[in-house]
Amino acid sequence: ASPPIVVVGSANADIYVEVDRLPLVGETVAARAGRSLAGGKGANQAACGGRLATGPTYLVARVGDDANGRLLEGALADAGGVRLDRVARAPDAPSGHAVVMLMPDGQNSIIIVGGANMEGWAAGVGSEDLDLIRRAGVLLLQREIPDWVNVQVAQAAKGAGVPVILDAGGMDAPVPGELLSLVDIFSPNETELARLSGMPTETFEQISQAAGACHKMVDQGVKEVLVKLGSQGSALFIEAEEPIRQPIIPAKEVVDTTGAGDTFTSAFAVALVEGKPKKECMRFAAAAASLCVRVKGAIPSMPDRKSVVDLLESVQVE
Ligand code: RIB
Repeated sequence: ASPPIVVVGSANADIYVEVDRLPLVGETVAARAGRSLAGGKGANQAACGGRLATGPTYLVARVGDDANGRLLEGALADAGGVRLDRVARAPDAPSGHAVVMLMPDGQNSIIIVGGANMEGWAAGVGSEDLDLIRRAGVLLLQREIPDWVNVQVAQAAKGAGVPVILDAGGMDAPVPGELLSLVDIFSPNETELARLSGMPTETFEQISQAAGACHKMVDQGVKEVLVKLGSQGSALFIEAEEPIRQPIIPAKEVVDTTGAGDTFTSAFAVALVEGKPKKECMRFAAAAASLCVRVKGAIPSMPDRKSVVDLLESVQVE
């Protein structure tokens, strides 16, 4: 089995509404359908690790002591493969939730309400969590919990030589230098890259320059920037090296892109802890993301390992 993956991050009850278009200001629109599902970038990435990794995947998260908290615990248990004993209930904060507006082309707009993800950490994670992180093969972080919690756990990982991947999704505010300096692989999508670098990301050349700016954002530099480019695939920029590019593996029909970025980041981490070269990690992640967009929902759409392996065998990817 591969070394443990530890995800420290958010868990949200996703209120899914399928709409033909987004409402204008002052307007009410009727959804075609709606339902509540488990989500949140942390929970999604853990669920994906649980499905794909040959070793254990742990989720360290905070939910509220409420109906959404029970929905999340139940759904994550049903998803299988994720160790949930480090998910704690915060007594005084509601569970995090999100409104996911899903459009007919599979694209979405999401609003999150932090709740326990932001308020439930008291003095931070406990010593048992820190020990777990020090023994991990990789630590996966996103930005739907306070930066100071991410700094606390990234410091533990760094001190033990455990690689840290930070998915940039979840917060508008700039990534604090203190956090970035602890990160081995920084992974924004192109919108996040544009916002964080303050540079345009329309062409590959511009993306490359914006990733270069990330390398220089902190003193020691973020050596590796893994950019998710939607239908353009992904690119890994390692300072002073040629970028590694990976196209998408096309899906016949894109039903729902929710969780595709989480699937990509997590599947990349799964391959990384197995010691695979970076290009192969990107191929594995592209296959997992391709399977994810074919099914509605974030966690319900995450593929199992056999499906990813079968897809990789069936396609000729450069
Ligand atoms: O990345 C998708 C996720 O973003 C959703 O599950 C939602 O909860 C938000 O965190």
